[in-house]
Amino acid sequence: MATCTAPGKIYLFGEHAVVYGKRAIASAINLRTTATVAESAQTTITSSLGTTGIDYTVHPYISRCIESLGVPAVSVRIDSEILVGSGLGSSAAAVIATLGALNAEFDLGMTRTAIAATGHQIERDVQGAASPTDTLVSTMGGTVMITPWVSSSRLRLIECGIVIGDTEEFSSTKELVGNVRILHESYPVAMDSIFDTIDNLSELGVPLIENGDYRSVGELMNIDHGLLDAIGVGSAKLSAMVYAARDAGAYGAKITGAGGGGCIVALADDAGAVASAIDDTGGRAIITEASEPGVHVRK
Ligand code: PMV
Repeated sequence: MATCTAPGKIYLFGEHAVVYGKRAIASAINLRTTATVAESAQTTITSSLGTTGIDYTVHPYISRCIESLGVPAVSVRIDSEILVGSGLGSSAAAVIATLGALNAEFDLGMTRTAIAATGHQIERDVQGAASPTDTLVSTMGGTVMITPWVSSSRLRLIECGIVIGDTEEFSSTKELVGNVRILHESYPVAMDSIFDTIDNLSELGVPLIENGDYRSVGELMNIDHGLLDAIGVGSAKLSAMVYAARDAGAYGAKITGAGGGGCIVALADDAGAVASAIDDTGGRAIITEASEPGVHVRK
């Protein structure tokens, strides 16, 4: 039997723009998914994900993990602290934890790079489209600058409080990416200039993160939120949480992930004050922090 755990993630900058090849900065967070696998007479998948009446199941992702590694029949058990369809990378964390556990159970000798690449391919197969961000960050951990399909580099880990505000409304990444594509097809010049500006925010963010200048990082996150609103992935509920977080002293706050529903992320020193302001809007606040470790075997 082998158990692996892998983290979810937040975007500081760059969701949606990353689909168009622009740079993004994301960080692993201390909300984790655990996969336990054991050789078995027949393959079974059980999961605490996707059992809340939402039209989502992690099973196709896990089946693809087993198929693509060509391993014998196994039982797989998934347990997760990450909310499904919330923009926190729940499916990627489940895939990466499962690949890590299969790698350990069957001594496959896969490197982290191979796990991240296989995980990305599986997300693409099941979802249709996905940037490498979620699977890369879940595998490697840390705070990471991503130039999609080119390179990634590790930055200084975010050291201030991270507060997530969850609308508790399911957000379909596929649908939102599709909506943005339609807008891009209608107004390519306007949309490209927004994506270029988001790309610029990621570039500007690097030295600020390296210096621990979270006030300035927060200002850039606020700009990014406005741009995400501009491309149609905001909502009144998301913005209510964003403004409540800022009013409560957050350095900055923005949508994280696909938007529509899902979550916002705020950076803050006084995470408790920001969390209770988010709760007061009717959202659900979660206080967490950045996670240096990515996927790892749990003894
Ligand atoms: O909501 P999530 O965690 O699936 O993130 C989506 C981020 C997008 O940039 C909108 C899509 C992607 O594949 O990167």
